[in-house]
Amino acid sequence: MTGASALDLGPIEFSPYDYRIHDDPYPTYARMRSEAPVFRNEEFDFWALSRHNDILSAFRNIEVFSNSFGVALDPSAYGPNAHRTMSLLAMDPPNHSRIRSIVTKEFTPKKIAALEPRMRAITREHLEPALDGGAFDFINDFAGLVPMDVISELIGVPYADRAELRRLADLLVHREEGVFDVTPQGFEAAIELFVYYEAFLIDRRLHPGDDLTTQLIETEVNGDRLTNEEIISFLFLLVVAGNETTTKLLGNAWYWAWCNPEERAKPFNDPTRISDWVEETLRFDGSTQMVLRRTHIPIVIRDTHIDAGARVFLLIGSANRDEDVFDRADVYDLDRPNGDLMSFGNGRHFCLGALLARHEARIALDELVKHVSDYEIDEALMARVHSANVRGFATLPTTVKVR
Ligand code: HEM
Repeated sequence: MTGASALDLGPIEFSPYDYRIHDDPYPTYARMRSEAPVFRNEEFDFWALSRHNDILSAFRNIEVFSNSFGVALDPSAYGPNAHRTMSLLAMDPPNHSRIRSIVTKEFTPKKIAALEPRMRAITREHLEPALDGGAFDFINDFAGLVPMDVISELIGVPYADRAELRRLADLLVHREEGVFDVTPQGFEAAIELFVYYEAFLIDRRLHPGDDLTTQLIETEVNGDRLTNEEIISFLFLLVVAGNETTTKLLGNAWYWAWCNPEERAKPFNDPTRISDWVEETLRFDGSTQMVLRRTHIPIVIRDTHIDAGARVFLLIGSANRDEDVFDRADVYDLDRPNGDLMSFGNGRHFCLGALLARHEARIALDELVKHVSDYEIDEALMARVHSANVRGFATLPTTVKVR
């Protein structure tokens, strides 16, 4: 691994599988930005870009940086068949443009605003029992439940099936110590999800509803419609891209506000600041820390030659802490302007669910602020999830003072 420190800190060690990186990646990112902005990891055969401007250029340079092998290093997610489970996220133009032009119609501000009452009802449904006892696990009793139910709502999944789909989605994202891929139970859950969505889609073709699935069946762009296989891959992608990411964003917001009482006071005293709480958490400790690209053709970045066919990580979490872009980047500060946020990516693959995620997070935090006057987190019992690109808590034991 490259990079030797002037302060004699030894060579930089960075791997998305390293538990020390999961604990706190930010000091390593800072060293990478200053000492090895084009970092090489021989063991796992990847490069990593850590500076905001290099990452922005890479997001926009689709001639060189391809999504066609997927965006994650995990063996089950990487390769030429990644689009089967990752849909448009694992495609380049023209395939990407074709699918995106159809699905994007379902994520307009109007459609997301129309979902608001249901998002609020789902939030309350899970928050009320959690608050009842005064002590609960913020992730397992609340933040881990809402996002998958919102996705089910969007897709049109009947209420009675939602708990089971949550169980399957949980198995899919569950990681075990030392195993850096989906577990065997996770694979079985993925198959069950596919089988469920296939049957659901067949049913929707016979009995259209007022939901995203029906719209995806019916939408036609220039005489072109999505096939069953394409719709199912897209529904599956929503579970992978929109579920755990939003759960972890909520957990990170809850945790960092607790660590910073002055910042916490801002949204708790003035709920119009909730959106600043969401934005600063996205910047300071976002749930998607990195995405992978594969080079179509060779490229030279900062005098370093990268071959065609190479794997290159874009370290989103590092871009969001780059001092060249964010003043006092290591300070959690709800008053800062956050215009250059990289948390949802950039360019063609910019997160389709960004608006939904922001809306959902604001509603969840708004309901919390309405009902909770103060809270504590049991740091001794909290635990992080050990996943290669998603950062956040697996468990966050909380006690609350209810208003
Ligand atoms: C805090 C929550 C979220 C974060 C941090 C996040 C982050 C991201 C990022 C960084 C990308 C770009 C990946 C790349 O360039 O390779 C992305 C893409 C995507 N996200 Fe999100 N996401 C979140 C929530 C959601 C939600 C709620 C949904 C939908 C229910 C969603 C759906 C998607 C889809 C479909 C794509 C692929 C877009 C494309 O390839 O054109 N995301 N997300």
